Amino acid sequence: MRQKIVAGNWKCNTTLQEGIELAKAVDATVAEKGARDVVVILGTPFTHITKVVEAINTGRIGVAAQNCASEAKGAYTGEVSAAMVKSTGAEYVILGHSERRQYYGETSGILNKKLALALENGLTPIYCCGEALEVREAGAQNEFVKQQLAETVFTLSPEDFKKIVIAYEPIWAIGTGRTATSAQAQEMHAFLRGTIAEKYGKEIADGTSILYGGSCNPKNAKELFANPDVDGGLIGGASLKAEDFIEIINAY
Ligand code: 13P
Repeated sequence: MRQKIVAGNWKCNTTLQEGIELAKAVDATVAEKGARDVVVILGTPFTHITKVVEAINTGRIGVAAQNCASEAKGAYTGEVSAAMVKSTGAEYVILGHSERRQYYGETSGILNKKLALALENGLTPIYCCGEALEVREAGAQNEFVKQQLAETVFTLSPEDFKKIVIAYEPIWAIGTGRTATSAQAQEMHAFLRGTIAEKYGKEIADGTSILYGGSCNPKNAKELFANPDVDGGLIGGASLKAEDFIEIINAY
């Protein structure tokens, strides 16, 4: 179902104690003055999920893992399975983030295994796509993201595709302070929705939440979120400060 979503991706930041404090601060402010019709998600490190789930008690915030294993279980030292994530109380899992593709060699093949396991275990995947600067400069961003989708989420049945959230995160905008302009975001989101419509039909495309990520902050969130095809944001750096994150939520 298409929803307005503001999701934080804490990445590899915060100790457990700092994370709990941050979650409590966001929870309290969301309870007090958070926009009612926005789904708020905190993407925490694995180690924090259980405690963050316990710490938030407004029932208005969902928790996401930032990854899950590509195997169901077994001798895979250091991995955390989708079933384990689900058993913590998390409802979402971020998959295909460019940092995982770039630094940990995540291919479409690996992502397909992760997507299948996430869905089997009742987690909502937040699937990230987005092009590097060279691709944008060559004007090839549309074909690039279309290919990313074709190799991964477009292999899902319509029933499963309906359960996922898409996040468009241009790599050149992540952590760089160089946000996509509102027009660039809208253009790509409209293209993504059109591509989804070609594959699954208009009804499913119109029902898909497509988030923007990449240097989204309290100053630019309002303009980005005002676009008809932008359904919210996946927020990195600005999700680490409760006040900034809440301002972004209230940009709606
Ligand atoms: P920044 O908001 O820090 O640019 O990160 C975006 C991101 O990668 C969210 O997943």
